[in-house]
Amino acid sequence: MFEGLRPRHCRAELRDDGIAVITLDRADKPVNALAQALIDEIGQLVERMAIEPPKGLVFMSAKDGGFSPGADIGEFEGFFAQGTIADAISNGHRVFDAIARLRCPTVAAIHGHCFGGGMELSLACDYRVAADTPDTRLGLPEVKLGIHPGWGGLARLPHLVGAPEAMRMMLAGGSLSASRARAIGLVDGVVPREDLMAKATDLVRTRPARPFRQRLTAWATNTWPARVALAPTLRKTVQRKAPRKHYPAPYAMIDVWRKHGGSVAKALRPEIRSVVRLAGTPTAHNLVRVYFLQEGLKARGAGTGHGIHHVHVIGAGVMGGDIAAWAAMQGFNVTLQDQNAQAVQAALARAGTLFEKRLKTADRIEAARRRLAGDPEGARVGEADLVIEAIVEKVEVKRALFADIEPKMKPDALLATNTSSIVLEDLREGLARPQNFIGLHYFNPVPMLPLVEVVHHDQASGESLRRGLAFVRGHDKLPLAAASAPGFLVNRILFPYLLEAFRLREEGVPLRAIDEAAVRFGMPMGPVELADQVGLDVCAHVGAVIAPKLGVELPGGVEALIAAGKRGRKDGEGFYTYPEGKAVKPPLPENYVPPVDLEDRLILPLLNEAVACLHEGIVASADELDAGVIFGTGFAPFRGGPIQHIRAVGKDEVIKRLTELAKRHGPRFAPRPGWSELAS
Ligand code: NAI
Repeated sequence: MFEGLRPRHCRAELRDDGIAVITLDRADKPVNALAQALIDEIGQLVERMAIEPPKGLVFMSAKDGGFSPGADIGEFEGFFAQGTIADAISNGHRVFDAIARLRCPTVAAIHGHCFGGGMELSLACDYRVAADTPDTRLGLPEVKLGIHPGWGGLARLPHLVGAPEAMRMMLAGGSLSASRARAIGLVDGVVPREDLMAKATDLVRTRPARPFRQRLTAWATNTWPARVALAPTLRKTVQRKAPRKHYPAPYAMIDVWRKHGGSVAKALRPEIRSVVRLAGTPTAHNLVRVYFLQEGLKARGAGTGHGIHHVHVIGAGVMGGDIAAWAAMQGFNVTLQDQNAQAVQAALARAGTLFEKRLKTADRIEAARRRLAGDPEGARVGEADLVIEAIVEKVEVKRALFADIEPKMKPDALLATNTSSIVLEDLREGLARPQNFIGLHYFNPVPMLPLVEVVHHDQASGESLRRGLAFVRGHDKLPLAAASAPGFLVNRILFPYLLEAFRLREEGVPLRAIDEAAVRFGMPMGPVELADQVGLDVCAHVGAVIAPKLGVELPGGVEALIAAGKRGRKDGEGFYTYPEGKAVKPPLPENYVPPVDLEDRLILPLLNEAVACLHEGIVASADELDAGVIFGTGFAPFRGGPIQHIRAVGKDEVIKRLTELAKRHGPRFAPRPGWSELAS
């Protein structure tokens, strides 16, 4: 049947029982990213089967990691550049439609990741069966790249699982476990991985009808009245999270379904048109860029052994407790030391809650608990390959601790500090092995924020830095190499932005107006709420270190709040009050009109500082800077990072606006060194 075809990225065989099996196995990649070459090969095989149908067709993957992570996004960058995106989308449609039209039963046998285009390939099949392994996840995350499913997924999914489930899944871009996928009817069976093929064969032979209830839901929720009724509710839900102006994809998705979702056939063409349009938006370009920035950070820590098995954390407070829990959850053996034994107990309890929330199954939770041990006295510091210090932010106290522990540590163990503001040159003073000393600067809350700054200093060895980067990646965080300068990268860039918010407050601009301006720009939360979340004491402390460096003064109002015991969210009150953990923001005065330059006053200092950091070499490149600021602060991802945003607005335009602000409000807005080196 397949004579003469020599696919490179998959294998095809016709078994003795008459069932054809296509095994996806990309030749040049560890995963089955759906490159056009692979799609073309599938297309040729399917063409043969259309002429001479086998008894059935099963798709499976030869890769350990999973079925397919989706389209080859690297290729898409090329399509963007060449303007051939419409051809690539149409080609995928042509092949997947051909699968859907085959006159034999078709099954996708799925293990591990099954996302995006991979999921859409499986949706073109009659049946799907999934392995019951914890790493099996299914989803359509296209919205995270500023587009929507474009290889038939948007048309097909609502008619398989019903529109509400389908839209929820595609709009959020999240993923489902095998059992959840089974519960909503996305897969027709969940079996042990070794039984996948047997189950797929069984589905081919028995061709079971979908359960009546599922068929009824799929039909009823896609009728015209249902679409007209549900679309506004979906739109409202999306509006709360993503304004149309910045994130058009979810709205486009709802529109295609509302207008054309009556049948799969009717929705296919509009789906192509819509996704091609979205692919041309700056949002999609920037979100694809963010994807690659993230891959870039991952690559910095990949492929290099760190030799770390046992991590010893000192300081079981907010940061140390969570760092220890995170590392244990990710498979490291961890011991946790604190001069206050109660702090250790409290951190272990908090860790238990994290394990339960994230690991789900009893055996995995229990295993993580066993990996994390309290060690208040620090008796096991000598066993560790990495010691992370997260005690009070005082140079003398940290130095005294280092003097005590360094002689007890293994000679080749790494010593890391989580300091948020002290330059490492001040801390390495007196160390016997300063070459083994680095900074690992985590962000609060540790389980939520993906970035860790890996900080070097004048005497740190390249090998220590390399091990630090690899360790950070090894516990599923994104490593950013940063130089030891006040505030490193992220806090340094946030500082002028927060400072300006505090000044605006002193000038009488309502807090809500300040935060709303930042959120409108695309920040995940405004600077006032952010300061409350970080803690005003922490802000003031970090600010005191950075302010002299930038030649600015801290506004007084913050100190008064700290003195009154209102340090922000943790005290239930800071700038805002937090009666139930959520900020209560006083409403704006009636007919209030914010200053016209409000947004510029907040955002331009941040951009200005980004340019200065690049100039000083705090990070190695503009891409790393953009990545650090997006993953460290949540900076509007659809804008692609501060430097990318400067490029989009125009460097000269930003300089002009800064100069105007400097004239109006003071020299703190004057363009900082580095603008002349920035490529236009
Ligand atoms: P914290 O006050 O919550 O915890 C510090 C812990 O260290 C306390 O449990 C204390 O008992 C213990 N400790 C103090 N001196 C000790 C010693 N000599 N030996 C053993 N244990 C000792 O402090 P937090 O917020 O966790 O900060 C810790 C470090 O992390 C600081 O360097 C801080 O600058 C840094 N950091 C804090 C962030 C935050 O948002 N809180 C963010 C990033 C870094």
